[in-house]
Amino acid sequence: MPPNPGAVWDERYAAAGADMLFGDAPNDFVKAETARILQAAAAALAGAGSLSTPRVLCLAEGEGRNALHLAALGCRVLAVDASAVGLQKASAWARRREIPVVPPEALFVDEASQGVDPAVLDASATTRPVGALGLMIADLSQWSFGAAEWDAIVCTFGHFPPPVRRRVLQEVRRALKPGGLFLAEFYNPAQLGRGTGGPSDAAWMVSANELREQLAEGFDAPFEILRETEREITEGTAHQGLSATVQVAYRRPSL
Ligand SMILES: C[S@@+](CC[C@H](N)C(=O)[O-])C[C@H]1O[C@@H](n2cnc3c(N)ncnc32)[C@H](O)[C@@H]1O
Repeated sequence: MPPNPGAVWDERYAAAGADMLFGDAPNDFVKAETARILQAAAAALAGAGSLSTPRVLCLAEGEGRNALHLAALGCRVLAVDASAVGLQKASAWARRREIPVVPPEALFVDEASQGVDPAVLDASATTRPVGALGLMIADLSQWSFGAAEWDAIVCTFGHFPPPVRRRVLQEVRRALKPGGLFLAEFYNPAQLGRGTGGPSDAAWMVSANELREQLAEGFDAPFEILRETEREITEGTAHQGLSATVQVAYRRPSL
């Protein structure tokens, strides 16, 4: 039987107890660029001519900090991770915040006939309806993300061995709706040895060049953001200090 990639994370999330290992705020980059997700959903809906609330896939989502942020803004979010303990903590946290936790299939119920509150798609709205959170324990080296199903896919610090990473990026391309957005932040290889977070093997880290190659076959046009950065990170106890990351906002070209 292949090793369970969630096992080591189960232990780390359990050891953090009631605290969240990566803190209880969304990732800074996801928070700063959330409006792009809502815009992506609005663009996809305009193309489809029907209305539904934005559907977002959060990959390697751990304890759910990004998923809850987006669900609280009205998105239907599926959080996928190999760690059952991480997702159990996400579920309990959602209940404390009164965010509905629903079976994953409920995220796919067609809302076209019910209509949708336009505030969900307005990034500047001050009040908005609460969305919903689905949870899926899965190994991203195997799990199918679906075809043209997601208005946005989010991933922060999901680090995998290179063959798994290539597969994940291919699935991201396939699973985004045309016009959909991939919003992600990873450690880049310059992070190696800093001791402020991330894997201990540079091969598990991600460069801007690799994202350009894997997502857009070498072209820059589909990227709204693609940059390697150095920034201070404060995320719980696990990510602390000056860090080298790559940030990406990739929009799948419309048909
Ligand atoms: C550094 S944590 C990041 C968690 C979350 N994205 C965040 O930023 O708070 C990496 C996560 O990747 C998950 N993970 C690692 N390998 C995985 C795989 N093959 N399939 C699914 N999840 C995986 C772990 O369980 C862990 O929750």
